[in-house]
Amino acid sequence: MKFLSLALLATPALTQSLKQALDAASPLGKQFAAGIAGDQKAQDALVPAGKSQVTLFLPTDKALDDHRSNAPRPSKSKRALKPEEYAIAAYSSADGKQDLTALSAGGVLKTNNVDAGSGKANDLVAEGGSGKLRLRANTTTPPPISVFGGLGAKAAIVAGDFVFDQGVIHFVDTVMDVPQLTSFTIATLGYRNFLGALAAAGLSPAIDKSTTTLLVYRDDVFTSAANQSVKSLQQHIIPNFLAYGPSLVGVTTLTTAANTTLKVSVVGGQYFINDSPIVKSNIISSNGVVHVLGKLLTGPTITTYTPTGSDATSSRVNQITIVGALFLAAWNYLV
Ligand SMILES: *[C@@H]1O[C@H](CO)[C@@H](O)[C@H](O)[C@H]1NC(C)=O
Ligand SMILES: *[C@@H]1O[C@H](CO)[C@@H](O)[C@H](O)[C@H]1NC(C)=O
Ligand SMILES: *[C@@H]1O[C@H](CO)[C@@H](O)[C@H](O)[C@H]1NC(C)=O
Repeated sequence: MKFLSLALLATPALTQSLKQALDAASPLGKQFAAGIAGDQKAQDALVPAGKSQVTLFLPTDKALDDHRSNAPRPSKSKRALKPEEYAIAAYSSADGKQDLTALSAGGVLKTNNVDAGSGKANDLVAEGGSGKLRLRANTTTPPPISVFGGLGAKAAIVAGDFVFDQGVIHFVDTVMDVPQLTSFTIATLGYRNFLGALAAAGLSPAIDKSTTTLLVYRDDVFTSAANQSVKSLQQHIIPNFLAYGPSLVGVTTLTTAANTTLKVSVVGGQYFINDSPIVKSNIISSNGVVHVLGKLLTGPTITTYTPTGSDATSSRVNQITIVGALFLAAWNYLV
């Protein structure tokens, strides 16, 4: 008998369900595991029927706690998740099994969240720090991997490679947001001066077209003194190309809606568009992607750029989106 139990212990589990993987990762995903335990619809959002392998980016207990402290005061009773909360679950699930090694190289992932407007699956973007070289040199310390989502969500993977039968789980330090149209996204994030100028120039439909990259500015960069001509604004719209960070590797020029060319360069790991640095990247929208520039675009002359300090902090840090807050309020009841 004793021999038999030892043999059983030594045998690796042949199958591992999502729940078992979450239990094994405990205490990392304890609250999330409890949340989905009785909710088949949430489990189906994470692992849709017919998908053989998925990659899940799930919030740690700390990520839920951090957001919870900002969430509206919940009512007492447990309730079912709202449709947008299931959408977030589906958006936290990408097609195919991508382990940390694969993600560290960076990539664009199709999620299981389908945009109601376009009918297409929304993307997630992963970027690895210094990538494969560091991973190879020191396997015990994986390189930092960032995951970018809608409404400026940027998460760091804090632990990963928890394998289950239908894929792999990575834990992230923030709750992802589902991508929305570009115009809604930049309004939500507070790039109002630039959005106002685009609207006044009649360019609102252009920024919400499918497969469009938009370069924007914070209000303190794009002031009333900025060139607001149609042609100047069109130079911030790149039609028919999704310039996600990983898709910019090897790209040296971008063609704008004004039929002009922007120069793409990388200096010390920092991306520049002409002489302007990208200070916040990969804001995923349902129709494209948005990057924030730190300095007004000028000609090809390279001038010195001095960071203002506030560049590093995302405008998302100081605000919790309505959708995110609802989601977290809901998780309160489920745990
Ligand atoms: C891996 O990196 C960690 C943290 O930087 C360091 O403490 C450790 O010594 C490294 N291990 C190897 C084998 O280089
Ligand atoms: C604004 O930009 C347009 C297009 O680049 C240019 O033709 C025009 O001269 C600029 N206006 C000013 C005042 O700089
Ligand atoms: C840009 O070029 C295309 C074809 O080359 C043309 O159809 C379009 O009207 C041009 N747009 C502008 C703003 O000049």
